[in-house]
Amino acid sequence: MIRIAVAKGRLLDGFLDLLIRAGYPLTKNLQDTRKLIIDVPSAGIRFILAKPADVPTYVEYGAADLGVVGKDTLMEANKDTAELLDLKYGHCRLIVAVPQVLGINSVQELDFNSRVATKYPQLATNYFHNQGIQVEIIALHGSIELGPIVGLSEAIVDITETGRTLAENGLVIIDQIMESTARLIANRVSIKTKREMINQLVESLEGVVSNEDHQC
Ligand code: PRP
Repeated sequence: MIRIAVAKGRLLDGFLDLLIRAGYPLTKNLQDTRKLIIDVPSAGIRFILAKPADVPTYVEYGAADLGVVGKDTLMEANKDTAELLDLKYGHCRLIVAVPQVLGINSVQELDFNSRVATKYPQLATNYFHNQGIQVEIIALHGSIELGPIVGLSEAIVDITETGRTLAENGLVIIDQIMESTARLIANRVSIKTKREMINQLVESLEGVVSNEDHQC
C-alpha cells in the first residue's frame, strides 16, 4: 500500500475528487469517520489523516510515503521532501493585510517594529527581511484576522481564498507574498523503494490535473 498523509477537509476533498476521476475505486464519504487511518485495499492506499502543517513532517520521516499539502504550508515547514506534482486545486494567496482604517497602501508605510501576527512565521520573517523592513513577528495558530481587531498586532500575514474573512473583519491587502496550490510530495526513500506504485499514481493524477487545465 502507498501511505498518503493528508488533512481532512478541503485538501482531502480535492484529492479524493482527483483520485476518483483518475479511476481509483474510492468514494467521497470515506472521510465521514473519526478514524485517523483509513485503508482502502482495493485502491492500494492508506490515508493518514494529519493536521495540514504536520504533513511534511510525516513525509520527511517516512511515516508516510506521500503527502498532500499547500505550497504555502510546505514552504513554511521547510522539510526535506520531494515535490512531485502541482495538483492545481486549493488555490489561495499569502498576503500582508492591515486594517482599512489605517489608510496604509504599502508595507513601506508600516511603523518601525510594527507587530505582525501570522501562522507563517518563517515566510513572514523572510519576506520582511527581503523588504528591509524591521517588524516583530507574532506567531499564532489560526483566526489570524483577530490580531489587529484586538490590538495584538498592526498587520497580519495570512492566506486568503475568497477574501471574505478579510473584508468582514475590516482588513485590506497591502502586498502579496506568494500564490499557493495543493502539492503532492514524497519521502525521498519511498520514491526509490515504491517507485512503480508512486509513478503509476503520479501518471494517473497528471492525466486528470492536465485535463482540468484543458477545460479552463
Ligand atoms: C484560512 C485563512 C483565513 C481564511 C481565508 O483560515 O487563515 O482565515 O481561511 O479564507 P477566505 O479568504 O475565503 O475568507 P482557515 O479556515 O484555514 O482557519 P484558521 O483561521 O483557523 O487558520
